Amino acid sequence: MERKPETGHSCRHLPQPIRHSRRAWDDTAGVFGEFKGDDQMKGISSAFFIVAVSAALGGMVWGIQMAATGDHVLSPAHGHLNLIGWVSFAIFGFYYHLVPAADQGLLPKLHFALSAAGLGLIVPGIAMAIASHNEMLAKLGSVLTLAGMLVFFVVVLRSIRK
Ligand code: HEM
Repeated sequence: MERKPETGHSCRHLPQPIRHSRRAWDDTAGVFGEFKGDDQMKGISSAFFIVAVSAALGGMVWGIQMAATGDHVLSPAHGHLNLIGWVSFAIFGFYYHLVPAADQGLLPKLHFALSAAGLGLIVPGIAMAIASHNEMLAKLGSVLTLAGMLVFFVVVLRSIRK
């Protein structure tokens, strides 16, 4: 006989024990651990997300401009703005949102400062390297970006050990 749903909607693609059952969903939460996030994004996670979405908007406008003019010469700079600025910053933002304990002390602020400075230098740096073969800015931006990721590594290790 067909079981009546306890709560929620019918999900035909889910196996029977999970389907229709609020209790089964709660059990699943137990398997994956308690969700520690917050409804509101704040602290360093919101700073990362403001930069991430700004980079996505700038990167997309740049992409449309490249497509419209047919001039793809600076596409590596566009790619880095999108991949470091939008993708990496969004991942950092999600991490600090999901693991609030990680946003403690100076390290997250240092992480943000190094990453933002790195992004701000690496993107024009790549464009400059392509246009005028001057790689100075790109080198500085990449070292700062790497330093930011190293600080994030320490933040991650620290929040795992807590
Ligand atoms: C409105 C949205 C976007 C438009 C119109 C756009 C347009 C373009 C164009 C015209 C190119 C040059 C392609 C070529 O020369 O073969 C390009 C390259 C690229 N785009 Fe985008 N793009 C957009 C969004 C994104 C996003 C969101 C990402 C990453 C998250 C991204 C990553 C890249 C990468 C990695 C390259 C290759 C860079 C390289 O040649 O070194 N783009 N894009």
